[in-house]
Amino acid sequence: MSPVRHFLEIDDLSPAEIETVLDLSARPPDPTLLAGSGAAFLFEKPSARTRTSVELATSQLGGHPVCLLGDEVGIDTRESAEDLARLFSGMVRLVGARVFDHRVLERLAAASTVPVVNLLSDDAHPIQTLADLSTMRREFGRLEGLRVVFVGDANNVARSLAIGCHLVGASFVWSGPSEYAFPDDDLDRIHAAGAAVQVEPDPVAAVADADVVYTDTWYSMGQEDEREERRARLSPWRVDEDLLARAAADVVLLHCLPAHRGDEATDSALDGPASRIWPQAHDRLHTARGLFTFLLTGGRPGVTP
Ligand code: CP
Ligand code: NVA
Repeated sequence: MSPVRHFLEIDDLSPAEIETVLDLSARPPDPTLLAGSGAAFLFEKPSARTRTSVELATSQLGGHPVCLLGDEVGIDTRESAEDLARLFSGMVRLVGARVFDHRVLERLAAASTVPVVNLLSDDAHPIQTLADLSTMRREFGRLEGLRVVFVGDANNVARSLAIGCHLVGASFVWSGPSEYAFPDDDLDRIHAAGAAVQVEPDPVAAVADADVVYTDTWYSMGQEDEREERRARLSPWRVDEDLLARAAADVVLLHCLPAHRGDEATDSALDGPASRIWPQAHDRLHTARGLFTFLLTGGRPGVTP
């Protein structure tokens, strides 16, 4: 029996496996894959896109999704992460978790005999990166050679995207103020994956020649107390029509959402001709289904595990 595959960061998939997951995402679901079983999803933080996409993906694969929110599951308060992993390993075929501390995911995975999927941690958001890559691949017909410019806070979404871009042969540029650059731990993780971050503090210079401009909130979940100081410092990196006009004519704007409209991006940018934020959001469903299919079949869809 092959070892269980987990998905905690985007480089848990090889470049070829990312292509396979993107291809699976474009195929109709196998409604027998999870028949008679299902998946458990644990959320320590709010979610709209992720919860909807993983619940629907489970259902499309013939399974039943069980969502446990906050204190309902009480990771490490009501029960240890390890004991929860042992519980779910005997009841469901896949576990997903959205947590603050990335180490909780690692502990779940270490104790689980079914795949554990990162649904966002403070460090990484790789299931988002799959949708981002899917949207880009459809938009440009390729991923290799694209120039992806992330503008704003170098956060969890940016870390996974930086590694993902490296894996598919795209270049990743970050533009923002030094206080909100990648922390050393994240840079170490990015470098450990073989990836590199080009830094261009000037947003106008950064977006020149960009194929993709990507932004995310200036204050992630759990950082709401820092909102005003972050707004003050990050406002020169707001994505608006003027900034997008400095990029290539066919530039695409992506945002993982939810957006704090008027902060990291203006309405006119988010709703303008370059924006692909809604196809990107909808790709979350298809790529969740593709990822689950891959993990549940050991990368061999059609072969019953
Ligand atoms: N992009 C994303 O993960 O959205 P949610 O927080 O709504 O799940
Ligand atoms: N960086 C954001 C992403 C939300 C999907 C956060 O962690 O809150």
